[in-house]
Parts: sequence; structure tokens; C-alpha cells
Amino acid sequence: MSLAKVQKAEEKYVLHTYDRHPILFTHGKGAYLYADDGSKYLDFLSGIGVMALGYSHPAVTKTIKEQAGKLVHVSNLFYTEFPSVLAQKLVKLSGLDRVFFSNSGTEAWEGALKIARAVASGKGLKKRTKFLAMENSFHGRTMGSVATTYTEKYRKPFAPVMPGVTFVKFNDVEDLKSKFGEDVCAICIETIQGEGGIHPVSPEFLKTARELTEASGALLMLDEIQCGLGRTGKMFAYQHYKVKPDVVTLAKPLAAGLPLGAIIVTADVAGAIHPGMHGTTFGGGPLACAVALEVLKVLEEEKILAHVKEVGGYFLDLLQQLDARHGCIVDVRGVGLMAGVELDSAELAKAVQKAMLAEKIIINRTHETVLRFLPPFIVTKKEVEVVVKALDQILSSCASSGDAAPAVVRSPRQRLPKASASGAK
Ligand SMILES: Cc1ncc(COP(=O)(O)O)c(C=O)c1O
Repeated sequence: MSLAKVQKAEEKYVLHTYDRHPILFTHGKGAYLYADDGSKYLDFLSGIGVMALGYSHPAVTKTIKEQAGKLVHVSNLFYTEFPSVLAQKLVKLSGLDRVFFSNSGTEAWEGALKIARAVASGKGLKKRTKFLAMENSFHGRTMGSVATTYTEKYRKPFAPVMPGVTFVKFNDVEDLKSKFGEDVCAICIETIQGEGGIHPVSPEFLKTARELTEASGALLMLDEIQCGLGRTGKMFAYQHYKVKPDVVTLAKPLAAGLPLGAIIVTADVAGAIHPGMHGTTFGGGPLACAVALEVLKVLEEEKILAHVKEVGGYFLDLLQQLDARHGCIVDVRGVGLMAGVELDSAELAKAVQKAMLAEKIIINRTHETVLRFLPPFIVTKKEVEVVVKALDQILSSCASSGDAAPAVVRSPRQRLPKASASGAK
């Protein structure tokens, strides 16, 4: 089917939740996507942080084919062999104790919120129902997730969302301390905010959140759906800090594009959950779990975390060099292969993203002014150079044309917390 026909059919039959770019992709290989007109795109977004091993990775394709021929789904009423093996691996890698498998990021986060309430009510603390979430956070689109997501436009049309959420200024220790109390069942933090514009939590803020929750018995819940599983050069982003959470959520890259999420909890938290309290029809199915095991095997055998560290460090260095040359860059932030370039206007960021796409390079724009880069973990230094060179040229031409770059006052530079700034280098 042609792009025009697909567009017409979508317009008529598909709920309009996305304004898609007018490109019809048919297949992918490594870090590249191919469209129906034969054009080839270098993908520095990887399906919004999902295709960590790139497209059509041979080991992943082989596992999908083999497992699809054996068993795709049974139900969680019976045993299959992969979920427990995968859970054991995630336990070992995370330092936590037990795993629940979901189908998506928001389902994992939604489950984490339920677990926090269950832990408090299991202790008889009926009034301990409040969540402290962060300004500029994003946790997903279901009712609880959206309630803990800061951006008002995601919540407003669906009001009233889940009550009991107070937003704290991200990385503001005093604000966190002043809002914390005995009624808080969990502090909710993305270890590195993704949709919010690539902002790592500061070591001091995370340490304070850990101390407050430990002292009261509330939970520290880290959402690593975007930043976890190797993207920062460590398996979990919190491993850059000397802090262990009570709950961590994962999803995006876990099963190489098949829907799979995970909630990983401590033994103490697990004690509050009993059969029948929570569940899912599809979560932890044999196909997705077999593929996730293959993903973890490839990450380990091909030493991909070390590669992420090296190439990510190189990428951030080059982006920082651009920062020194282009007045329209407000800040460059990132860890490993999770990078953001903040520009001084939303119009410019929009124009730059569009121009990159015209150059057959896929990135996206988040938090209005931030160009976001989430390439597959397997990208090479050469591919990084291609992207940085294109960005350099586009920023130069935008500045000289003045079209997309209206005169703006340069915002004050934001500094990364020491432990995280290009921390994977
Ligand atoms: C940090 C974070 N949490 C939760 C989600 C929601 O995940 P999903 O879209 O799989 O529901 C996302 C998605 O972008 C995310 O980045």
C-alpha cells in the first residue's frame, strides 16, 4: 500500500492521537530504517528508546522465529520456562529481589503505584496514601501514571485523575523535605527525566529521597523505563549513584520491540503482594520473555554497555563542541546514549528536527525546546559523526537565515550534577 493510501485509511479509521511524519517505513537493519520509496534513514531515536540492539538483530530475529513456532501465549495461570529465568537475571542485575512482568511502561508504573499503596495499607497505615512526584516528570498515559505526570495537558482532559499526588521541584532538596511527611507512601523519580528534557536526578536529591523514605518506611520508586537497561552505560541508571531503590520500573528496550515491562521490588515490598491482588493477561508471556533473555545475553556477550559508555562519551563531547560554537544552544545534557540539546526556542527546535529528517536522520523534540537523541546502543562513532555534522550545518544555516531562529534571550545555563554529567565517560 502506498503512503497516500495508508494516510487516507488512517484518517478515516484510526483514532487521531498522533500527528505522524509522512514517511512509510517498511523495514530496518542495524541503526537504519528504510521507507517504501527506497530512502534510508539513520535512526537516532530507536523507536523512542526501544530498539537498543537496532533493527533485525540476527539473534533476536532467530529467537522470535523459534519461539513463535513453539509457544506465544498460555496465560499466567500456568508455568512457562522463561519468566522465572528472566526474573532471576533482572534480580541479579538490579540488586533487588522479585519481578512482576507487564506489557508496557505505563502498566509497569501503574502497578508500582498500586504496590506502594498496598505496602502502606498492609502495614495498617491507612492514611499513608500520598505520592510525591516530580515537576517535569513523565510516567505514562494510564490514570495513575498520568496523575504522577507533571505536564498539565496530559492530565487536564481526563480530570479528575487519581488524587493524592503532590509535585516537587525536581532536584530541589528543600522543596522535597518540606513536602514529605508521614502521609507519603512513595517518592516517584525518573533517575533521568526523559520526556522532561533529559535531566538527571542530582546525587544530593536522590540521597535525600532515600534518607526520607528509609526513615519513614515509605518507598523510593525509580522509573527507569527510558533510562534503564544499559542506555546510560550501566545496566540501571541508579547504579551511577550509591542509592538502591525499593522499586524500579523497566520497559522500552527490554524485549527488543515486543511489548514487555517489569516492576522489580525488594523482598520487603514483595511481602505485601499476594495472589489475586494484581495481574495481567499478556504480561510475561513466553515469546516476550524469551526475547528479553536474548537481549540481556547480547548486551553481555557483545559487551554493549562498554560500547555505550565509549560512543556515548564521544557523542556528548562532540555535542559539547557544538555548544561552544552555536549561540542558540542553551545546554547539552546526557549520560551514555541518552542526550539532549536544549535550544533557545521551540520554533528553532521544531525547525531543526524537521531539517534533520530531511537529511534522513531521525531524532525528536521533547519539552518543546530539547532535541532528544536515543540512538540504538550499537551505533558507531562514524554514525555519531554523521549526526553531529548534520546538526552543525543545520544550526549554522538556521542562524544565518534567521528564519527559524527568532531573536531570543539566552537562558541561564543549567549544570548537570557532578556525578551524572557525561557520567558514563
Ligand atoms: C520514564 C517513562 N515512564 C513511562 C513511560 C510510559 O511507557 P509506555 O509508553 O510504554 O506506556 C515512558 C514512555 O515514554 C517513559 O519515558
